[in-house]
Amino acid sequence: MARLEQHCAVDLWGGSDAIPGAELKARLADKQALMCLLTDRVDGAVLDAGPGLRIVANIAVGFDNIDLAAARARGVMVTNTPDVLTEATADLTWGLILSAARRIAEGERLLRRGAWAGWALDFMLGSDLRGKHLGIVGLGRIGRAVAARAGAFGMRVAYATLDAGAAAPGAADAAWARLSLDELLSSSDVITLHVPLTPATRHLVDRRALLRMKRRAYLVNTSRGPVVDEGALAWALRQGLIAGAALDVYEQEPRVHPDLVGLENVVLAPHLGSATVETRTAMADLAARNVLAVLAGDAPLTPVTA
Ligand code: DGY
Repeated sequence: MARLEQHCAVDLWGGSDAIPGAELKARLADKQALMCLLTDRVDGAVLDAGPGLRIVANIAVGFDNIDLAAARARGVMVTNTPDVLTEATADLTWGLILSAARRIAEGERLLRRGAWAGWALDFMLGSDLRGKHLGIVGLGRIGRAVAARAGAFGMRVAYATLDAGAAAPGAADAAWARLSLDELLSSSDVITLHVPLTPATRHLVDRRALLRMKRRAYLVNTSRGPVVDEGALAWALRQGLIAGAALDVYEQEPRVHPDLVGLENVVLAPHLGSATVETRTAMADLAARNVLAVLAGDAPLTPVTA
């Protein structure tokens, strides 16, 4: 806010919920820039409500909440916040991997409800990570940062990319094996998703994909909820087709599929991937700098080019 207010007048939505669509449209009538969140849907109708708009600066790396074609057609620049949240999201991913494989959240729930009868040799046994295979779907910035941490846990890394051009073999660590998605699904002990939400990745993990996974495997999703078919995942977890899952994102946030909520073998986090003080501050600051650059007639720092 301080950075923005030095250069322009700011109209801040102070509500704790997402700004209602009608309110957003009304307030855009006289604005040149919009800084928005992943909870704000910015489509052609919203863009039309701001005829003077020059930039939509999303405070998120994902931008599936913005209709890029509509923005392009209206000459409105779209920016996101890559890089600054990479490490925080990779850390959270490992938190979820450990929580699922070592049953930390499940154990905490048990303890809090007074059901812990004490240490026992065979009590709440999880899975070692050392020597196991980590399968990364999507080798962008966050996928790479997750892979880079795998050595600390003694895991071997394989990856699959949907976009053939996205990760040329030379661009990945030589120790990371590149596999097809099907190979990765059937050979990994932990599968973690790091793809953007696009028509091609919606329900990428469906019944078919889940059936390919090992029975002792875990699925982790810190990308976007609709990449996983939650109903299919709940079915697979209930049937014991996979060992467990850990989710940070959901198909219809903040709603979580009711079948998942009742299961012990899934860790459910409330979209915390980038939620640290340092990272959220850096995201907001980057979005503000994108706005100021465009308003000054300069190129934005992190334009969405997709
Ligand atoms: C993003 O930036 O896309 C993240 O999901 C925010 O936590």
